Amino acid sequence: MLMPILQEINAEFNYLPEDVLQYVARETGYPLSHIYKVATFYGSFSTVPRGKHLISVCLGTACYVKGSERLMEKISDRLEVKVGETTRDMRFTLKPARCIGCCGLAPAIMIDNVVYGKLTGKEIPKILDKYKAG
Ligand code: FES
Repeated sequence: MLMPILQEINAEFNYLPEDVLQYVARETGYPLSHIYKVATFYGSFSTVPRGKHLISVCLGTACYVKGSERLMEKISDRLEVKVGETTRDMRFTLKPARCIGCCGLAPAIMIDNVVYGKLTGKEIPKILDKYKAG
């Protein structure tokens, strides 16, 4: 019962605002500590405001050995944002991921729910530009 509620809040606000979580605790009877435990366990949730688009750079073994760290640097430089942070315009949040389940496409990144694989780094500007307008 709690997960669908949190997913709906996340879909509405793109993160889980504290005052809304307090409201959920009051209305459902779940302790706030339990709600935070769930909210912080899943990477798809955030308790701080996030950008419109979430960029997950896979740093899992298959991607790491094929240079995903360089992809992370390139994205970070291009967007002028540090890993784990959100761009000033609130358009992108850049995060590391352990494995996004596409090891055969290493190195891979995921933007929202779209996977981009076998990247060399040259494609990064074009990929990011697709999300700058929308
Ligand atoms: S290690 Fe990157 S997708 Fe699995």
